[in-house]
Amino acid sequence: MARPKITVVGAGNVGATCAHWAAAKELADVVLVDIVEGMPQGKALDLMQARPIFGFNVEVAGSNDYAATKGSDVVIITAGLARKPGMSREDLINKNKEIVGNVTKEVVAQSPEAFLIIVSNPLDAMCYVAYKVSGFPRNRVMGMAGILDTARYRCFIAMELGVAVDEIQAMVLGGHGDEMVPVVSATNISGVPLTDLLPQDKISALVERTKKGGGEIVALLKTGSAFYAPAAAAVQMAEAILKDQKRVVPVSAYLRGEYGLDDLFFGVPVVLGGEGIEQIITMKLSPGEEELLQKSSAAVAKTRDDLKM
Ligand SMILES: NC(=O)c1ccc[n+]([C@@H]2O[C@H](COP(=O)([O-])OP(=O)(O)OC[C@H]3O[C@@H](n4cnc5c(N)ncnc54)[C@H](O)[C@@H]3O)[C@@H](O)[C@H]2O)c1
Repeated sequence: MARPKITVVGAGNVGATCAHWAAAKELADVVLVDIVEGMPQGKALDLMQARPIFGFNVEVAGSNDYAATKGSDVVIITAGLARKPGMSREDLINKNKEIVGNVTKEVVAQSPEAFLIIVSNPLDAMCYVAYKVSGFPRNRVMGMAGILDTARYRCFIAMELGVAVDEIQAMVLGGHGDEMVPVVSATNISGVPLTDLLPQDKISALVERTKKGGGEIVALLKTGSAFYAPAAAAVQMAEAILKDQKRVVPVSAYLRGEYGLDDLFFGVPVVLGGEGIEQIITMKLSPGEEELLQKSSAAVAKTRDDLKM
């Protein structure tokens, strides 16, 4: 039986780290693709040379040609630009729309049965581009954001309480932007509500730190944005699909009426398994959280409209 195959498009910080995590977990053979000549080949060869040390037995290849991606089971798209001084948000949307659109066309021609996991920003809008361009059913196109945002929230709670991070059950919903919604009413530590363990002001501070979790890292790095945790989150999504794990996780999914939203990619809890998004879970929120979610959806809808697709 052939090994599964993951293609990662964009061999920059997030893409190369996806290849690293996926290979080290022996999830699949990995193909790294980038427009920069030699760079994906060099990173792939470097990862291949780590195999004897860590003892993982999958193939990692790099290419500038999509022929190498043929027959991929999962494609993670990280290609794109980050905003530079003098560039408007509109400029970034248009540039990344073009990049993600072109990448999707190439990928789909080689792997018509693949599951697409989008990472490029602005996330929810780039999912919309990939969905429209691919023509794939909605269970096979999804965005990585909620797992990352939830991981940041869980991490900050564990640091505050001094407890094991895997005891924290939580969910961050909504668009991948400053208006994301950490669902405090559904946050518990091995069943104990967070609100029993921390006063409201401390919880509010954790929520605010989560919302600005990406920005905190950008400010520290100065030359780029986060990549270890984003790549770990994208690889967890690939793993859930390849191993049919049926994980309940937040992802950016195409909504058709769920949460009162239509024709929009938005972060919601789903069951992620061998069929991709197998189910969208409707969560009961507090009235305050409901209001925040609607506010977040308005921001995401505005960005979708800016795409003019
Ligand atoms: N969804 C999230 O939570 C999340 C988290 C982190 C980063 N991101 C986004 O992911 C993207 C990648 O981030 P990064 O830190 O890896 O950036 P990076 O600059 O390190 O890497 C991007 C790579 O994309 C490549 N690229 C550009 N155009 C391409 C094309 N047409 N075809 C193939 N490759 C192309 C570039 O050469 C570069 O190597 C950015 O848009 C970033 O904002 C999203």
